[in-house]
Amino acid sequence: MSAEGPKPPTEAELAEMDRDQLVKLGGQLDGVEIVEYPTPWPVEGTRAEKRAERLVAFWFALSALAGIGFVVSLIWWPWKYEAPDNESGHFWYSLYTPMLGLTLGLAILGLGIGVILYTKKFVPAEVAVQQRTDADGAGSTEVDRATILAHLADAGSRSTIARRSLIKRSAIAGAGALGLAAAALPVASFIKNPWKDSESRDSLWHTGWKPNFPGEKVYLRTISGSIEEDVKEVRRVKAEDLDAGAMVTVFPYRDSEAHDEEKLNAALTRVDNPVMLIRLRPTDAAKVVKRAGQEDFNFGDYYAYTKICSHVGCPTSLYEQRTNRILCPCHQSQFDALHYAKPIFGPATRPLAQLPITVDEEGYLIARGDFIEAIGPAFWERKS
Ligand code: FES
Repeated sequence: MSAEGPKPPTEAELAEMDRDQLVKLGGQLDGVEIVEYPTPWPVEGTRAEKRAERLVAFWFALSALAGIGFVVSLIWWPWKYEAPDNESGHFWYSLYTPMLGLTLGLAILGLGIGVILYTKKFVPAEVAVQQRTDADGAGSTEVDRATILAHLADAGSRSTIARRSLIKRSAIAGAGALGLAAAALPVASFIKNPWKDSESRDSLWHTGWKPNFPGEKVYLRTISGSIEEDVKEVRRVKAEDLDAGAMVTVFPYRDSEAHDEEKLNAALTRVDNPVMLIRLRPTDAAKVVKRAGQEDFNFGDYYAYTKICSHVGCPTSLYEQRTNRILCPCHQSQFDALHYAKPIFGPATRPLAQLPITVDEEGYLIARGDFIEAIGPAFWERKS
């Protein structure tokens, strides 16, 4: 770029030059003619200048607050799952992810807008004309590098950043808070322990099939029609209720909640409660392959599998009697009901969790306990 024009200075001359001279020399060497190089605020301390300064500082400060808000939300916002029957808890829990997105987005946006505004309002916008030259491919010379650095330093100096402490402080706060937010992300995973309280009935490790107290019966109940009507009429399932080859969706019904309409309703709406109760045809039942450790989870020809797909959690609502396949309509995963509901087609990679069932002395089907594994898609350190 400096092949034509004035003669480049010697090293000694270059070392002697001040920044203004270097800026001028850089322009001459590049064949650049600076047409306009106005100082953005020629008169210091005007109201317009102060207003511009406050505007830039506002965005940096907003970025700082949002960055701190992100760190606070990430660590202290109620993040553990709360079932919908705990209205207030569920409300605050459901805002956890939106809060993270909102605060982090605002922190980045505020910093970005602050930088753009600062550049527009305080960095001089020069108008220059440069002749085109053919690059010789030799790379930048020492003179080029020195003059370019001088140009950059000059632009910084003319932007008057040195005397704008409000902008400097707010920019440092904004960038610092964002840095803090970035650092908090890996740290938070050491502070939060998803295994803590895993015994709680409402943790992700349990479903509504967990009894309220040891020994409580949890029946398999059906609904049809509207939830409001059926929540009052509890239809428990007896072993002889289903024809061979039939399937019905069942929900947990705890004795202790018999007169609590709210809890009955919650049992019908909690997402991890629905279970597919299948009665295999006797010829098919003879071909069943059971999962190791779950050999007694069925009752006779009755098998109960969660309806929550192990791919990404859609309801696996379809059971094809002829092939004994359970189908998930979302991404077409298929599970073999004769082979502990293991996936045989589609993106799902794990079997559907099986609910252990039996009958009580009156012939009603009951759960022998909760699922023994987390249902649905993988999360945290799932072992199956
Ligand atoms: S959620 Fe079932 S296949 Fe994707």
